Amino acid sequence: MSEGTQKKQEQPRRFQAIKGTRDLLPPETALWIRVEQTAHEVFGTFGFGEIRLPIFEPTELFARAVGGETDIVSKEMYGFPKKLEILRRATTDQIGQVNTPTKIHMFAQSLAVLVLNLEQALNAGEIPATESNRHLIGQLKKISEETIVFWRSLNWEPSGKWTELFGTASELIKNLEIERLEESFSLRPEATASVCRAYIEHNMNQLPQPVKLYYMGPMFRRERPQKGRYRQFYQIGAEVLGGSDAPAIDAEVIEMVMTFFERLWLEGVQLHINSIGDKNCRPKYVEQLREELRKVKDKLGPDSQRRIETNPLRVLDSKVESEQAIIEKLPRIAQHLCDACRENYDEVKRQLALRGIVYTQNFRLVRGLDYYMRTTFEITAKGLGSQNAVCGGGRYDGLVEMLGGPPTKGIGFAIGEDRLILSLQEGGKALGPQGRDVYIAWMGEKAYTAAIQAAKNLRMAGFSVELPPVEQKFGKALGQADKLGARYALILGDNEVTSGEWTLKTLATGEQGKFREPDLLDFLGKSEKRSE
Ligand code: HAM
Repeated sequence: MSEGTQKKQEQPRRFQAIKGTRDLLPPETALWIRVEQTAHEVFGTFGFGEIRLPIFEPTELFARAVGGETDIVSKEMYGFPKKLEILRRATTDQIGQVNTPTKIHMFAQSLAVLVLNLEQALNAGEIPATESNRHLIGQLKKISEETIVFWRSLNWEPSGKWTELFGTASELIKNLEIERLEESFSLRPEATASVCRAYIEHNMNQLPQPVKLYYMGPMFRRERPQKGRYRQFYQIGAEVLGGSDAPAIDAEVIEMVMTFFERLWLEGVQLHINSIGDKNCRPKYVEQLREELRKVKDKLGPDSQRRIETNPLRVLDSKVESEQAIIEKLPRIAQHLCDACRENYDEVKRQLALRGIVYTQNFRLVRGLDYYMRTTFEITAKGLGSQNAVCGGGRYDGLVEMLGGPPTKGIGFAIGEDRLILSLQEGGKALGPQGRDVYIAWMGEKAYTAAIQAAKNLRMAGFSVELPPVEQKFGKALGQADKLGARYALILGDNEVTSGEWTLKTLATGEQGKFREPDLLDFLGKSEKRSE
C-alpha cells in the first residue's frame, strides 16, 4: 500500500446528514423563526393554545388513526424494533446448532446479553413483573453463568449435558411473557393522532368545548426525497376538538390558515376543497367507484391496480399521466353524497363565501389518511413544483372515539413548513443576511471593560451586538464590522473612555458622532424607529 493511500485511510470519517434530513442554518433560520412567530400570533388571535407532543408514540396509535393500509403507515414510518424480541430470537435461533466450542461461546454471549436486558426491562417495568417472569429470568441467568464457566474450563465435549442445558434454556425463553408489555414505537409521521391521544388522556372533553390546539415540530416519513419532500420535515398544525360540527367551524379553521398565509405575504395561494361524505354515503360510493375501476383495470398502473381493492379513493389522486383521462370519467362523490352531507358541504361553502374566502372545488381531493370525513381541503402555493401542497386538512369526527375516547367532533390541518419557507423564498420573501446592529471596536484594557458593559446594556435594550474577543486595530475592526453587515460601529479607545464621549460611526454613510452613553441608547432607539 502506498503512503498516500495509507494516509487517506487514516482520515476520520466525515459524517453527513442522513438522506432526507438536513440542517437549517442562519440566515435562513431567521425566516423559520418569523414564520413560527407569526403562527403563534395569528393562531392566538383565533383562540388556539399550543400543545407540545412527544416525537414518538406507540406504532399502534398511528396504525389505528391514520390507517394500516395507508402509504404513511404501511411504507413510510420509522419504527423502533422490539429489542427483547430480537435478542430472544437471536438466542433461540442458535440453540439447535450449539455443537462446537466457538458456537457455545457465541450462545453464552447471546444468552448473557438477553438476561441483562431482561433484568433491566423487569426493573424498569417494561415487561410484566410476575413471579413467573422473575423465576424464568433467574433460571436463565444460572444457565448463562454455567455455560460461561464450562466454556472457560475448556472442558467441553459434545455430551448430552449441553443438549439438555440448551433445551431447558429454550423452554424457559419460550415461557417468558414479554410481548404483552413490550410495545413497538414509531417516530410520528403526523400529529393529529397524538393530539387526539392527548385529548383523551387528559380528559379534555371536560374542558369548555371545543378545545382548540396547535402544534409545530418535526414529522418523519420514509418517502423518496426531492424538492419539498424530506424524511424529516416540519409541520405547523391545528386541531379543533369537541363541541359542535357546525360548518362555520370548518370555515373558520380554513380562514385561520388563509389569514396566516396572508400575514406572511405568501404568493399564489389556492384553496381546494371537497367533501368525501360520511359513513352513510361513502361506502356506497366507494363500492361503485371500485366497480368502475375494475372495468378499466388493465389501463391502470400497478399502484392504482392494487388500490382498486385496498383503497379505491386513492386512485383519484394519482399523478400518473396515462391515468388522468380515465380518472376524469370516474363517478364523482359530489353526486353520491347523502342529503345531510350535501347540506353540510353547501353550508361550508356559504360560510367560506361569508368570510370572503375564494376556493376551487376539487372532486379528486381525497387525502392520504383514513380518518377524514366530509370536508377535506388542500392549499397550494407558488414555486413548489410537483410537491405543491403547502397545507392539508379536513374533518375527522369519530377519530377520538376510535382511539377509545368519547364521541367527539374534530377538524384540523397541517402546514408543511419546509414547503412554506421554500415558497416564501421563491417569492423573494427571504430575509437578507442577519446583520448586527452594533459592532464594538475597542482598543486598550480600560476600553475593553467599558465595551463589555456597553455590550451588556445594548443587548438588554434589544440590539444585536458583536463584541470582538481580542483587541484589533480600529481599521481591521471596522473592516470586520462591514463584512458582518453591521449598521453601526461603536469606537472605544482609552481617549473615549477618559472623556466619556463615545464615537458612533454609521457604516453605510461613514458619518460619525460623539455621544455620552445614555444618549447613545436614545439615539439608537430613535434611529431604529425611523428605519422600521
Ligand atoms: P398531510 O397532507 O399528510 O396531512 O400533511 C400536511 C402537509 O405536510 C402537506 O400538505 C405537506 O405540505 C407537508 N408534508 C407532508 N409530507 C411531507 C414531506 N415528506 N416533506 C415535506 N413536507 C411534507 C397531515 O399530516 C394531517 N395530519 C393534517 C391534518 C391535521 N388533518 C387534520 N388535522
